[in-house]
Amino acid sequence: MIKAVIFDLDGVIVDTAHYHYLAWKRLAKELGMDLTIEQNELLKGVRRMRSLEIILELGGISLNESEKERIANKKNGWFVEYVDQMKPDEIFPGVKEMLKSIRAKGIKVALASSSKNAPRVIELLKIENEFDAVVDGTMIVHTKPDPEIFLLAASKLGVAPAACVVFEDAEAGVEAAIAAGMKCVGVGSLEQLNKANIVVAKTADLKFDQLVKL
Ligand code: G6P
Ligand code: MG
Repeated sequence: MIKAVIFDLDGVIVDTAHYHYLAWKRLAKELGMDLTIEQNELLKGVRRMRSLEIILELGGISLNESEKERIANKKNGWFVEYVDQMKPDEIFPGVKEMLKSIRAKGIKVALASSSKNAPRVIELLKIENEFDAVVDGTMIVHTKPDPEIFLLAASKLGVAPAACVVFEDAEAGVEAAIAAGMKCVGVGSLEQLNKANIVVAKTADLKFDQLVKL
């Protein structure tokens, strides 16, 4: 029996995953590397500093902590610039209605994003009041695929993990949801997200009767 649905943000509610990619690609270029779309999959759902470390590992580059801090901030500055241009209608089609209709059926809805920019993004999209709980990257110690973020969301909602369904577009996120003992809807390609219970191309493609049967 499903009592809560937990949504990832970037790539599930809005295409900010693309802005993360553009900003990382720009940074990689400054480092003399080309970050491919396949390599970018490794960064999805993973927090900022870990993402940078993955890029540096791919490029065989080693930097000290203060230099890493400096360039991670640079990437974030670009990401914020892209996001600040966003209009509320950039939310994926049908998602706002979906959040409302799930809640109208008495099921709780939470947001769980590794991004420290999540509060800014949901405010820009004007959906900050559509959630019963919000967990962002400032509230967690361990990054996905660790289940911490989803367990924290469930505890904020007062719902047992087994009664939660997670929507995720990142492999690390699907693994985190499963490790939390939750059901998972993968948003994206079946090849990438085959550990999820079901995979849809777009968030709003999942029908309510499919959700309750998971
Ligand atoms: C999300 C995205 C990642 C991003 C992470 C941290 O999980 O999927 O691509 O690296 O958030 O985002 P931040 O905005 O804090 O740098
Ligand atoms: Mg995501």
